[in-house]
Amino acid sequence: MRNWIVAGNWKMHNTTGESIALAQAIKEGTKDIKNGEVIIAPPFTSLFSVGAAIKGTQVSLAAQNMHHEDKGAFTGEIAPGMLKDVGCTYVIIGHSERRKYFHESDEDVNLKVKKALAVGLKPILCVGETEDERVKGVTQSIIDTQIKKALSGVENIDNVVIAYEPVWAIGTGKVATSAQAEEVHHFIRGILKELYGAVSKDIRILYGGSVTKDNISELIGMENIDGALVGGASLKPDAFLGIINQITGKK
Ligand code: 13P
Repeated sequence: MRNWIVAGNWKMHNTTGESIALAQAIKEGTKDIKNGEVIIAPPFTSLFSVGAAIKGTQVSLAAQNMHHEDKGAFTGEIAPGMLKDVGCTYVIIGHSERRKYFHESDEDVNLKVKKALAVGLKPILCVGETEDERVKGVTQSIIDTQIKKALSGVENIDNVVIAYEPVWAIGTGKVATSAQAEEVHHFIRGILKELYGAVSKDIRILYGGSVTKDNISELIGMENIDGALVGGASLKPDAFLGIINQITGKK
């Protein structure tokens, strides 16, 4: 049985003070969780303070992005070692907003995944098709390419988490149906099996895109959906804890 994960991607929200308050509330509300993991991904400026606030608790810290080099003349970028230094154990890589607005390619994503694993950070690798691609019927080939390119040269995926986030469902309120999501999750697990064999059954695959406490139960009930990567609903304690509470009642 795979342990569930609920990860909150705070995106470009929250000052340091707001971040600490939210982290404290999440820490308090998740004291008794079992068989699962709660991860929060504040903006870079809050990582240090939030890392200190949740140190030694059941809540893990993630960054939303990183550079693939150890250090150097890359103005405005953040190195993997800096993330470890402030207590990150996870890093979100290849989010569709990074792919769309910052032109991250599958090759960039691959460099980052390999680097994260090399330094001991667990990548949450995001993949997903656009609405146009879904309408054209090329969802599976898009996902296949994104996963295979991102994992090219990666020999061990024990520490990789995959997040399937259909772009059309992000921030739109248009959640994929549990059947639509499960179909892609099942497909992703098939790719992992083809690439890595038996270990694929232990890899967590999260769904992301307009997840709330009202739709998580159906999603988490599906065989290959192991949790959620949450955007909007991760910014308010009640909304985020509500998702976790729905899952703990279920899985
Ligand atoms: P929303 O939950 O706001 O749709 O965002 C999903 C997401 O992009 C998480 O990474």
